[in-house]
Amino acid sequence: MEIVILPSATEVGALAARKIVRLVREKPDAVLGLATGSSPLAIYAALAEHVRDGSLDVTGVSAFALDEYVGIPAEHPESYAAVIHREVTAPLHLDPDRVQVPDGRAPDLEAAGERYEDAIRAAGGVDLQILGIGANGHVGFNEPTSSFASRTRIKTLTERTRSDNARFFDRPDEVPTHCLTQGLGTIMDARELLLVAQGSGKAAAVAAAVEGPVTSMCPASILQHHRRATIMVDEDAAAGLTLGDYYRWTYANKPAWQQF
Ligand code: F6R
Repeated sequence: MEIVILPSATEVGALAARKIVRLVREKPDAVLGLATGSSPLAIYAALAEHVRDGSLDVTGVSAFALDEYVGIPAEHPESYAAVIHREVTAPLHLDPDRVQVPDGRAPDLEAAGERYEDAIRAAGGVDLQILGIGANGHVGFNEPTSSFASRTRIKTLTERTRSDNARFFDRPDEVPTHCLTQGLGTIMDARELLLVAQGSGKAAAVAAAVEGPVTSMCPASILQHHRRATIMVDEDAAAGLTLGDYYRWTYANKPAWQQF
């Protein structure tokens, strides 16, 4: 894993966006994996800026979201279909037909999970998966004890996740109890992973994921087994890392040809 520690959340967003711009220049029909929540918003804002100034052309790009709530309509402003449209598809002018979100409203959720896996496979797999991390170490909505082999499926959200996400809803009891999420096996199939985290609330989860044992109690720790995983964090989210100075030195002395 490559750990990049940056002074602020804005710089995390800008550098992550630069990495994505580089990927799309090399592969104009790249398949991106999209996360929702607060963590990637600075990336999407930076990407939208690149589209505006002409330095990024997403005409050929397709995208798959990580997850969707079960039990709220697509029109609900906090459904991930709505969030992805508002934060990514519209500002980046992505072709809406090329952006998919798991169907959390399907009558048969198991079949919907399988269809989603098929769609990712048919698109050639995800080139770069953007990830946030939950305070409990989840990625996607793979809560602690999720199988490392899991595929897109229904999951029950933990109370911790529901209370962390209550800020997006009018009342805490409006937060759905279930979701349809890509599995850890699905996420690990992406050719490259880019996890971003900001703020002190993520420090313990980031430390456990990066330096702790690989355990399903911290689902993000599975990233230690990925060949190309980058973790970009701000100083607050890096506070629990014991090898912080080593990561800073390594990044500062990265050869030019390896820069993002
Ligand atoms: C969202 C997702 C989640 C979030 C995580 C962090 O699609 O998959 O894993 O990335 O819950 O959420 P924020 O960024 O809101 O702190």
